[in-house]
Amino acid sequence: MSTDGIAYWNVQVMKRWKRTQSADEARDLETFWDGRAEAFNERTGQRSARDYDTALVHCIADKAKLQPTDTCLDLGCGTGSLALPLARRLKCVTACDISGQMLGYLEARARQAHQDNIVTRHGRWMDLVPSRDVGPHDIVISHRSLGLIACDRDGSPDFVTCIARMHHLTRRAAFIIPRAFGVPDDDEFRRLFPECTGGPAERFSDLTTLNLLHAMGLFPRLDYVPLRQVQQFHSIDDEVAAFRHFFQIDGLRQLKRLHEYLARYALRQDDQYSMRTVTRVMVMWWLKEC
Ligand SMILES: C[S@@+](CC[C@H](N)C(=O)[O-])C[C@H]1O[C@@H](n2cnc3c(N)ncnc32)[C@H](O)[C@@H]1O
Repeated sequence: MSTDGIAYWNVQVMKRWKRTQSADEARDLETFWDGRAEAFNERTGQRSARDYDTALVHCIADKAKLQPTDTCLDLGCGTGSLALPLARRLKCVTACDISGQMLGYLEARARQAHQDNIVTRHGRWMDLVPSRDVGPHDIVISHRSLGLIACDRDGSPDFVTCIARMHHLTRRAAFIIPRAFGVPDDDEFRRLFPECTGGPAERFSDLTTLNLLHAMGLFPRLDYVPLRQVQQFHSIDDEVAAFRHFFQIDGLRQLKRLHEYLARYALRQDDQYSMRTVTRVMVMWWLKEC
């Protein structure tokens, strides 16, 4: 393990993280995510989200060679988009989240599905003491949550300690799955907005995480899960804001063109829009013995 390499890539990961995350939000993650829980639960219950989860769980099960006797630790589990389908295949899932509201939805969904093999842990991941508060599991996953679960009480993420804890607590494999973003499945879109169509490999923050893992001697493998979905959203403005945030689009002209494009391309049904999208989810994972 090279200390210089770790320090260098840790700074790079932090720089990328700062561009997308406001320090205020990170300081009060519990309030922030409690406030988003209802909408998040609604979104993750949509058909397109369930197709996404199924494809991802299939990939995780395949790579980690999951058995029904295995256990999983899901960090920043939210309302259970992966914890619930994984629990159906496994002996037990420990689902950890800072938001009591998120866990409330997860527990309600588990009750509804008569699933009693999910144990919830409410708290900030970096406040829990490995081995004392949470023991080893066959797999550990962080799905769309790494920068958040790495945050300490001051709102600063400590990626190195967070990843080292994941490694410490896994018996077989650990997974870091960054957020992916579906874009219109259309040649015109690809021509007009090349900055949004490069796929996950264009996302520098994900690549810096990869380099950090490598510097820590964890030698991650990469897989891509391709997905075609029909996505729904409530307003064009919200969708433009989501594109802007994810792809870091600053130019006003480009945002205006995006607005015009989405208004033309998305289908309006009652109070919702729907759009055919395509994406590739990047799955970074490593084996305990690598
Ligand atoms: C983007 S959501 C992802 C949820 C879930 N993994 C999914 O993909 O559906 C991020 C989740 O991380 C949780 N979270 C944020 N900061 C956390 C922390 N420091 N410790 C534990 N959970 C945290 C939030 O409450 C939220 O549920």
